[in-house]
Amino acid sequence: MRLLVCGGAGFIGSAFVRARVREHADQVTVLDKLTYAGRRENLREVDPDIRFVHGAIEDPIAVADAAGDAEAIVNFAAETHVDRSITGPEEFIMTNMQGTHVLLEVARERGLRYLQVSTDEVYGSIEEGSFTERSPLAPSSPYSATKTGADLLVASYFHTYGLATSICRGSNNYGPRQYPEKLIPLMILNALAGDSLPVYGDGLQVRNWLFVEDFGRGIGVVLERGEPGQAYNCGGPDEMPNIDVVRRILSLCGADESLIEYVQDRPGHDRRYSLSSSKLNGLGWSARMRFEDGLASTVDWYRDNAWWWEPIRSGAYREYYERHYGRALKSS
Ligand SMILES: NC(=O)c1ccc[n+]([C@@H]2O[C@H](COP(=O)([O-])OP(=O)(O)OC[C@H]3O[C@@H](n4cnc5c(N)ncnc54)[C@H](O)[C@@H]3O)[C@@H](O)[C@H]2O)c1
Repeated sequence: MRLLVCGGAGFIGSAFVRARVREHADQVTVLDKLTYAGRRENLREVDPDIRFVHGAIEDPIAVADAAGDAEAIVNFAAETHVDRSITGPEEFIMTNMQGTHVLLEVARERGLRYLQVSTDEVYGSIEEGSFTERSPLAPSSPYSATKTGADLLVASYFHTYGLATSICRGSNNYGPRQYPEKLIPLMILNALAGDSLPVYGDGLQVRNWLFVEDFGRGIGVVLERGEPGQAYNCGGPDEMPNIDVVRRILSLCGADESLIEYVQDRPGHDRRYSLSSSKLNGLGWSARMRFEDGLASTVDWYRDNAWWWEPIRSGAYREYYERHYGRALKSS
């Protein structure tokens, strides 16, 4: 397939691009703004086989150029960190909503298939049971609200213009190359460096963990076999409270639980996310990686790939961390 992959230099997008180029021989153009979260290094292994366009999804000229002769657009591009959306929602509105609109217009003009990568956070928090695709949308942060707005816009392009759209909503992803502001890489790198591990509130927020390659495969299945106009949930096989995740990481890193430091909870922090994936199971997808194995291999990857995270941990991320947590990182 000839694909335009937006946000393909980020954590999940780059895993998707690697898999599509290697396993499906797709012709891929990546359009990416290279924000703090996007890195060319993430595409190093497939660099000779793809076209890379440096540009923003909210820029119609860059999108038209990048679209070339693509048959489908897969949109990963987003501002993705909830904490940053609380302190500065503007970028989230620009990229997640305005950017999605520009992509939809290009898809409409050219009659392209359109797949929007979305998140379980659009449903909000659930105490018991799991969300299905019929559950009401009830986002609680500016991040999830802008993702929800984008999902609704995508759905409207199917209903109004007949555009062949799909939405794939993933639960919390983890794996190699995730920017260290997110829970799992944050805790791994702090544990390896002997820095304290900042745990929000009581640490009992439950997340449904999905290995990044499983999500990439799920998105591929929706792209190939999803029914136009439909949304598909893609949830991980295991749920766990954050504090248990942190304890497992400490043990895998050979670090002591005394490094745990409880810090003030995130405002409006959702307690539990949980997705039912039975609709996507019906298309033949199921998660292959259990959390225990995926977490161990992720810790190994960060331990073995300091070249990837050292430039991040010694750069602007240090200032962000200090500002956000009110304490400095010990080491780079
Ligand atoms: N990380 C998760 O747990 C998770 C779970 C479910 C869904 N998602 C969704 O998956 C997608 C990818 O998430 P991720 O964790 O890989 O994010 P990420 O932050 O690692 O990467 C985002 C990528 O988008 C690029 N980008 C940002 N703004 C852009 C713009 N205006 N134009 C072009 N490119 C831009 C960045 O440079 C980066 O390469 C997002 O849409 C996110 O909402 C993430």
